[in-house]
Amino acid sequence: MKQNPKIKIEKIVSDGRGIGRFEGRVFFVKDVIPDETVEIKILNEKKNFAEGKIVSIIEKSPYRITPPCKYFKECGGCSFQHIDYRFHKIIKTEILRELLRMNSKISYEDGIEFIESPPYYYRNKVTLRVNEEGLSLLKEKSNEFVNIDECLIVNKKINGIIEKLNGMHLYQNYVNKVNIRISKAEKILLTLYTELFDISQLTLNLESLDVDNIILFLKDKKPVYIKGKGELVNLTNDNIFYFSHSNFLQVNDYIAEKIYTYLQSVVKEGETLLDLYSGIGIYSIIFNTIFKNIYSVEGNQSSVHFQRKNIKENRIKNISVINRFIDSSFEIKDSFNFDTVIIDPPREGVDKTFLKSLLPKIKNQLIYISCDPATLTRDISIIKDEFFISEIKIFDMFAQTKHFETVVIFERI
Ligand SMILES: C[S@@+](CC[C@H](N)C(=O)[O-])C[C@H]1O[C@@H](n2cnc3c(N)ncnc32)[C@H](O)[C@@H]1O
Repeated sequence: MKQNPKIKIEKIVSDGRGIGRFEGRVFFVKDVIPDETVEIKILNEKKNFAEGKIVSIIEKSPYRITPPCKYFKECGGCSFQHIDYRFHKIIKTEILRELLRMNSKISYEDGIEFIESPPYYYRNKVTLRVNEEGLSLLKEKSNEFVNIDECLIVNKKINGIIEKLNGMHLYQNYVNKVNIRISKAEKILLTLYTELFDISQLTLNLESLDVDNIILFLKDKKPVYIKGKGELVNLTNDNIFYFSHSNFLQVNDYIAEKIYTYLQSVVKEGETLLDLYSGIGIYSIIFNTIFKNIYSVEGNQSSVHFQRKNIKENRIKNISVINRFIDSSFEIKDSFNFDTVIIDPPREGVDKTFLKSLLPKIKNQLIYISCDPATLTRDISIIKDEFFISEIKIFDMFAQTKHFETVVIFERI
């Protein structure tokens, strides 16, 4: 019988797996660490690469630790709990440098600062499925459930609610999904999605839960506000931000604050700011005092509603909000130009046609905030014709997972 290959892990790539070579072929392996030598069982062979599974670790990394979460092996959420947090910086920075080489054709030699997160209990939001056994996360790239009684990357108070909900008859009440969100002041918004047609059919004792807001969605998607107004609020030193269950907010408050403080130190004062993919308006509102006019573009209607409310509550007069999706048909009039543009897109990045048409309208700085280094580096390959990179920082927004947030500051060449 052919022996299992033994391979040395060269690096971790952007999907969180390690790669190594055997007989000229690249192998992808989960749960490994660079410089480890592992014996693997071949799972899947393609022409140019193969996938393998660890059978044994022949040479172990000094950074290997026991994953603290009992669901780590099956749950699709975290990728790096088996690695000492101090080494995540090296892995994530190398993933970004490699993508800059491959996608942007840039060999970025300058330093990339890595801003660490609290390694656990940092998430302010979780969405869970419901089955007969209770609440669950999903296995990687699958719809298979992993029932949990806690999640170590989620805020501890949210974990308390998970424990309580697991003791209730959610499944029998046709609840299929649950979203729990916590504000900085630790107020909780619980959203339940049910297959019920009528609230009178619900037999859950929701009053026993220590939460501030409960929204229940019926089968026809109608919301019923069972407790509170269905809103949360976050305060910063200068501003107040309202939001609800469906609005985008960064999931890690500690890291989000670090990004805001950093941007406040690099964004230069000017006449006009364009804030693209603006959500509930955080950047427009933070920078309202250093620009005369701000244009803010957001596609999600509910986020636009909260952005308008936030602008009003903060008594701001110089922000124009445009509710529309940015795509190849989005054109900015020739007469407009901007000193600074902030782009904070979803994982898909920015539409190529729109991005090309935007660049000549930026006089000074372009700030790109990205949660997906693959689309960021693809977009950089377009931006680099007109702008140079003055700084790149990684913010570990999604600690223990393969994901991270990157902020790139571009200046006009
Ligand atoms: C990564 S979030 C950034 C939000 C905001 N800048 C913040 O930090 O809170 C991306 C935002 O873009 C919005 N969005 C997604 N696709 C869009 C599109 N094609 N056009 C406009 N907005 C879009 C989402 O609703 C979301 O609010």
